[in-house]
Amino acid sequence: MKQNEIVLLGNPLLRQKAEAIREEEFGTQELKALEKTLFEMLEAENGLGLAAPQIGISKRALVFGMDKHPVHTQIPAIPFTILFNPSYEPISEECAEEYEGCLSVGTLRGKVSRYRHIRYRGYDVNGQLIEREVSDLHARVLQHEYDHLEGVIFLDKVTDMNSLGFHDELLRSGELKARKPA
Ligand code: NI
Repeated sequence: MKQNEIVLLGNPLLRQKAEAIREEEFGTQELKALEKTLFEMLEAENGLGLAAPQIGISKRALVFGMDKHPVHTQIPAIPFTILFNPSYEPISEECAEEYEGCLSVGTLRGKVSRYRHIRYRGYDVNGQLIEREVSDLHARVLQHEYDHLEGVIFLDKVTDMNSLGFHDELLRSGELKARKPA
């Protein structure tokens, strides 16, 4: 697979609905190569999550994960996971508003409301079902990455435009705690 780069806002790929992985694609070298590239890019970009359209591949695939923070140890780690053909549903109507960022949007951040508790499912590279009930940051990153597969960017969901700001300025003003973009 050729060297991939992060696709930035303005590229029409980010506004397309991504294509489902077909049954016969599971377990193939091509899909394994896509998995490897997505995890490599996630690490290289120091991101929390990444969706295939963000590396120029309009397929329904996303990765995410986070080790336990060395300082903020109260934030639970998120297992490094790839999901093909993911879906989710809220477990409760409860939402929370938090800052989000996106590797395709540079250092701009804004507050987005997301479900706090969701159940998601998807398939690993061999077509094995992965199903989890998760909360808070884990739930948030899944909802953010899923939106990429629908051509939706977090900016579309920022309702309080006053919350928009660049990472460094928001850190300086104390509005934002350091967090990885997704
Ligand atoms: Ni994103």
